Amino acid sequence: MDAHQHQHGGSDTPAGDRQRPDGGHAHSGHEHGGHEHGGHEHGGHKHGGHEHGVGHGHGHHPYLPAHIDLTALAVPDTMALLRPVLPEPPAAICEVGAGLGALAAALAGAGYRVTAVEPDPDSAAAAADRGLDVVNAELRDHQAPGRYEAVLFTRSLHHIEDLPGAIEHALGLLTPSGVLVLEEFARERANEAAARFLYDAIDLLAAAGVASTSQEDDEGRPQPTDPWQRWQHNFVPSGHESPEEAAHRPLHTGTDIVAALRAAGLTVTDEPTIGLWRMVAQRLADTPVANDVARRVRDTEARRLADGSLPALGRFLVARR
Ligand SMILES: C[S@@+](CC[C@H](N)C(=O)[O-])C[C@H]1O[C@@H](n2cnc3c(N)ncnc32)[C@H](O)[C@@H]1O
Repeated sequence: MDAHQHQHGGSDTPAGDRQRPDGGHAHSGHEHGGHEHGGHEHGGHKHGGHEHGVGHGHGHHPYLPAHIDLTALAVPDTMALLRPVLPEPPAAICEVGAGLGALAAALAGAGYRVTAVEPDPDSAAAAADRGLDVVNAELRDHQAPGRYEAVLFTRSLHHIEDLPGAIEHALGLLTPSGVLVLEEFARERANEAAARFLYDAIDLLAAAGVASTSQEDDEGRPQPTDPWQRWQHNFVPSGHESPEEAAHRPLHTGTDIVAALRAAGLTVTDEPTIGLWRMVAQRLADTPVANDVARRVRDTEARRLADGSLPALGRFLVARR
């Protein structure tokens, strides 16, 4: 039996300048006011946070402006990566952390039999509205041994505290020849160029009134003005975090995830991808230009990744037994 849990739907509305590298929200049980170390998380709802800048979306989604659906924007890129590694339709696929279901819907449209696992009730409802088969539960509560030929984690595995347990559970969902596919972040690959790209974009867009930013972090301390220091301030463990921060450190790095997959005995291929644009997009205000801005930032990042002037802040992982 699948659990149908109800959890607080966190928001990524920026409070302070610390942010998560994804525009998503966590469901590892820590999100209310939760903090991700090195990918600092706001459970939304501004507890203890400092809300600065322009407004945010209403009604459409718990954490993004109404004009933006990151999943939808990224679907063509993700489909292009997936096609060569997925079995042919109508293979059965499980997407873990399907969010609003845009990717799951594209996969269903391509002829796959898709199950979307999503613990957030609002997101699960939005995905179900697309006509998808949605399981409103955490991964660990989705019991379907040997049912799927592919299990996809779309920026969800880094939210799950028990990494080996989650991988083992996902392997249990797969057929013997099934494949695990993951889109993840690699914030550990950031450098000064990445920090400049991120904060220059955010600050310019905030000055133009179409994004929110902050001069202070969650603890009310001023942000460093130097972009690299600002990155470190927001994403690198200082060793001086508050007990609350220390207790809410569920976010795994891409390196942690690759290591856990290998430790589970899997053969892993690791393709570098873009990722910074999502951190910009999650700060965009609910304006009609938001989608175009997000797309432009994404395309610029892709060009700079291709010409070698930016590191790859995303990773596309394929893991097989
Ligand atoms: C960053 S969002 C990604 C959403 C969407 N896949 C995308 O790429 O935009 C992370 C998603 O993982 C889900 N999630 C968090 N913990 C989970 C868990 N234990 N099991 C399944 N999904 C989980 C969240 O509810 C959220 O929808």
